[in-house]
Amino acid sequence: MCGVIGYVGGGAGPSFFLNALRRLEYRGYDSAGIAMLTPDGVAIERAEGKLSQLEKKLDKLPASAKVGIGHTRWATHGKPTENNAHPHRSGPIVLLHNGIIENYRQLKEDLTARGYKFLSETDTEVAAHLLHDEYLRQKSGSPEERLRSALRSAVRQLKGAFAFGIICTDTPETLFAAKLGSPLVIGQADGESYMASGITALVEHTRQFLVVEDHEIVMLKPDGISVESFEGKPVSRPFSKVEWSVSMMEKGGYRHFMLKEIHEHPIAIAQTLNGRIERDSGRINLADLGVAKLPLGNLQRVQIVACGTSYYAALLSKYFIENHAKIPVEVDLASEYRYRTSTVNAQTLVIAVSQSGETADTLQAVKSARANGAQTLAVVNVPGSTIAHNCHAESLTKAGPEIGVASTKAFAAQVTALYLLGLALAQERQTLGQAGLSMLMDELVKIPSLVEKALGLSESIEKLANRYQQNTSLLFIGRGPQWPVALEGSLKLKELSYIHAEAYAAGELKHGPIALIDENMTVVCLAPRDSYYEKTVSNIEEIKARGGRILAVGQENDAHLLDLADDFIGIPECSETIQPFMTTVPLHLLAYWIAVRKGTDVDQPRNLAKSVTVE
Ligand code: AGP
Repeated sequence: MCGVIGYVGGGAGPSFFLNALRRLEYRGYDSAGIAMLTPDGVAIERAEGKLSQLEKKLDKLPASAKVGIGHTRWATHGKPTENNAHPHRSGPIVLLHNGIIENYRQLKEDLTARGYKFLSETDTEVAAHLLHDEYLRQKSGSPEERLRSALRSAVRQLKGAFAFGIICTDTPETLFAAKLGSPLVIGQADGESYMASGITALVEHTRQFLVVEDHEIVMLKPDGISVESFEGKPVSRPFSKVEWSVSMMEKGGYRHFMLKEIHEHPIAIAQTLNGRIERDSGRINLADLGVAKLPLGNLQRVQIVACGTSYYAALLSKYFIENHAKIPVEVDLASEYRYRTSTVNAQTLVIAVSQSGETADTLQAVKSARANGAQTLAVVNVPGSTIAHNCHAESLTKAGPEIGVASTKAFAAQVTALYLLGLALAQERQTLGQAGLSMLMDELVKIPSLVEKALGLSESIEKLANRYQQNTSLLFIGRGPQWPVALEGSLKLKELSYIHAEAYAAGELKHGPIALIDENMTVVCLAPRDSYYEKTVSNIEEIKARGGRILAVGQENDAHLLDLADDFIGIPECSETIQPFMTTVPLHLLAYWIAVRKGTDVDQPRNLAKSVTVE
């Protein structure tokens, strides 16, 4: 999705905007641009392709400016060309945008009839001309007052989603923003104000942030900001301090962010556990987990909505929560859930799981649940994200910033947070005695060190990856909690190496997929020593009987599995509760090393964005 950055203060050079946009690259993009106000107007430079192309033009921009905006574009309307890159200009107005304007065609017709000339194919240029048109209609007040009034009028005519950054040659010390549906944060430092699509772009300049909410307009000046609703009603909210650091966002010596983040599985799990298990009292700290204000003891059912990897984390947690809290858990793709008839009530807890906290489908799904009377909880990794703002409660996965587009450590943190929620439900519903609760707490606390051991497999998996880089397809199978892990492993392989992969519940093989088995098909079989082991081994034998190749992931020193498999990855011995965390790591590493062998863009795979904020 697009990246937006804005600055107003004593002065910032082109490199400020370029570096801030670099921090947003993980969002996915295909062109970029920067605009800076100058004493005699505005300088705008744009380029197709990566930021390195825009960098070649920076010398055409002023060395410093008091006001400026920058953008990385993920094309929705119009091809990824320089001409379609943002910012777009209309008279004194220069505007950039993250989102989609759904009614842009009608607006474009009206504006064209009024004499506006369009230079691009974008919906964003429509917004620039519309704002200019409304600005010309304002007959009284200062340029700032007229522009605010024009912005209020323009945004009320738009349908869709937008986060706008706006500068105007008539207001040389002011930056404007408006938000509906797309993420936007405001940063404040001494004598400088900022706007951005995400806090990662600004954390080296400030830790003080304000999340802009839907239907809000912000006017930013060097010494502060003012917020108002689209209807002009003043809004007041405190800034909050974020504990993320720049070093957390650097690669730390790893070749890719993704490899670094795979190796951060343990710390992500440990930080998500931290403070939430009170070993002395043997209780879950509901306040620290973010669920103290939810009526956990009175709930009759749980629904979890998510997309992609977050959906698989939710599917995996279903087994644990149902097993220990004895409450029905339905897991749904947010993009499907949001359009179905809602059957929730006040005794239903709907959980939205999202690393970014900005995924459009997940946001709309949980908004629908809340509107229909459900209790809602956001399990998100980015503090103060939009999904969290739309839920009754927020439970943070403390994985730290995840930059690689392929989600890895966040998956581990999400499962950890959902397991903790399962224990909190069991505690409040008294479905587990103290002994059972304490035993499971002890299990969870062991996970980081065991996962650390599993990371030691990286070198052997790097060697193994050579044998699979030419594959055109792979199957993944697992039973019970290993089925969602198989789904996650197949998604990682697809999105990183562009090799087709599918995952099945192992019991489903006979119902069709086994027809795919021949000597050209490799099946990744998750077969730790769990309660499904014998049946999974039978599946392996059925595959072998038809000539299929087996890459087995099982408990180290499992001689039987070692004998059956063509390739084998052995994980350290651990309880069934912990096994899904342990089998996930080799699948993340396998996808990573195959992608490295294939030379794909590991941190920014083609066509993908880190946060899907458009539907
Ligand atoms: C996972 O590797 C992908 N990047 C994608 O499936 C992602 O999990 C999905 O878009 C959901 O994102 P979210 O967790 O930020 O809501």
